[in-house]
Amino acid sequence: MRKKNRKQIFEHIEVLDAGAKGKTVAKAPDGRVIFISNAVPGDIVDIETTKKRKAYFEGIATRFHKKSEKRTLPICEHFGNCGGCKWQHMQYEHQLFYKQKEVENNLMRLGGLELPKPRPILGSRKQYFYRNKMEFSFSDSRWLTLEEIKSDQPIGDKNALGFHIPGMWDKILDIKKCHLQEDPSNAIRLEVKSFAEANQLTFFNLRGQSGLLRTMMIRTASTGEIMVIIQFYEDLQQERELLLEHLKTKFPEITSLQYIINQKQNDSIYDQEVVCYHGRDHIFEEMEGLRFKINAKSFYQTNSEQAYELYKIVRDFAGLTGNETVYDLYTGTGTIAQFVAKKAKKVVGIESVPEAIEDAKNNATQNKITNAVFAVGDMKNVFTDQFINLHGTPDVIITDPPRVGMHKLVVEQLLKVAPDKIVYVSCNSATQARDLGMMKEKYNVIESQAVDMFPQTHHVENVVLLTKRKP
Ligand SMILES: C[S@@+](CC[C@H](N)C(=O)[O-])C[C@H]1O[C@@H](n2cnc3c(N)ncnc32)[C@H](O)[C@@H]1O
Repeated sequence: MRKKNRKQIFEHIEVLDAGAKGKTVAKAPDGRVIFISNAVPGDIVDIETTKKRKAYFEGIATRFHKKSEKRTLPICEHFGNCGGCKWQHMQYEHQLFYKQKEVENNLMRLGGLELPKPRPILGSRKQYFYRNKMEFSFSDSRWLTLEEIKSDQPIGDKNALGFHIPGMWDKILDIKKCHLQEDPSNAIRLEVKSFAEANQLTFFNLRGQSGLLRTMMIRTASTGEIMVIIQFYEDLQQERELLLEHLKTKFPEITSLQYIINQKQNDSIYDQEVVCYHGRDHIFEEMEGLRFKINAKSFYQTNSEQAYELYKIVRDFAGLTGNETVYDLYTGTGTIAQFVAKKAKKVVGIESVPEAIEDAKNNATQNKITNAVFAVGDMKNVFTDQFINLHGTPDVIITDPPRVGMHKLVVEQLLKVAPDKIVYVSCNSATQARDLGMMKEKYNVIESQAVDMFPQTHHVENVVLLTKRKP
């Protein structure tokens, strides 16, 4: 073994902090930071290192001398194996504390920003069963626990319908109950698995690329509508219809039952034809009287209830009076644009995914919104002087970029256009801090509000209101 990676044990170390990509943080005796994957701040532990770098270690707690008072018992039997809810062992109020701290640290340290008195983070009313979309994978060689491997009992059921083990593309954890999506999500998944096994329908072999059943997506909308999409690898009509017909009969509440036959290497559905087997090819989400049509490929915020809270903060920060031209950059299916349209003179949404813009236009028509226009393309190519000449100078710009943040050219264009107000929504406060850092000569941070969309995980959304400095 190379010296660099030789394991070290640090004893009786207090875990100090949490945040960094969901890991907790301690200090090694030499002062280097240790990122730990299975501890809670306040624990006193022995740590075995798994990685050594110049500035830090990574490790796991192997012995707990004292368990933190911030701990709580995880409610899910899959905790520790599943990558989904890594903070389930920390009480929710402490999850919120560390999320807020991470956002503030990033804005101040990475962005070098002066912050106003921070608003307390907005927690999610639902701490479990808050997701409206889940994607499960089938596998014919499920991930086995250490106990199963060590046990001399023969392994009965080798199939899995569940989630990828973090960092292992070919290992699927069979899920008995997931606490992220409300029922009938669990009931549908369990039924699909048992029916498929009873009828010898084969589960996908990820290494060999064979088998019938590949993935399943379930969407549950706030309107009560349910979409199920099964992705098959092999094109076997009889077997496929056997399963779909069974689902249709067993769960009449499914309003959209669809399938895909995908024989590509990867299981992304975005370039695939989706066939509607039963019901409609879409479901509807509803927010404040607005209806959003969601098809198999549409993006919609996954915590619907908290998305509403987020959008209200955005609208509040934008402070519209009805006379403003508002740009909604990275508009997705135009949800924020439509949400603020009633309070604006005009809204302009820009987004790179053509299907999302199609949805945005159709939804705006259905919602009788006549003051919204939508444009498709890469932001740095679309959001130009020419575009602004055509659509009007924005008074307020709302921007909600993906995790990587905004392209430098987009930030430069924002500075050039220089609207009075910018509302920046972000799911990654590190890239948000970087972008805001580039804008601090021209803009002040007036408000910063973290919003928790994903309880039990380290992810956090943050909304910042910027106003232009007076010359
Ligand atoms: C965080 S989502 C925002 C979605 C939307 N605001 C909402 O609340 O539903 C970011 C959006 O940016 C789009 N996007 C990513 N890169 C882009 C680019 N270079 N130009 C334009 N849009 C982009 C993505 O397709 C995605 O819809």
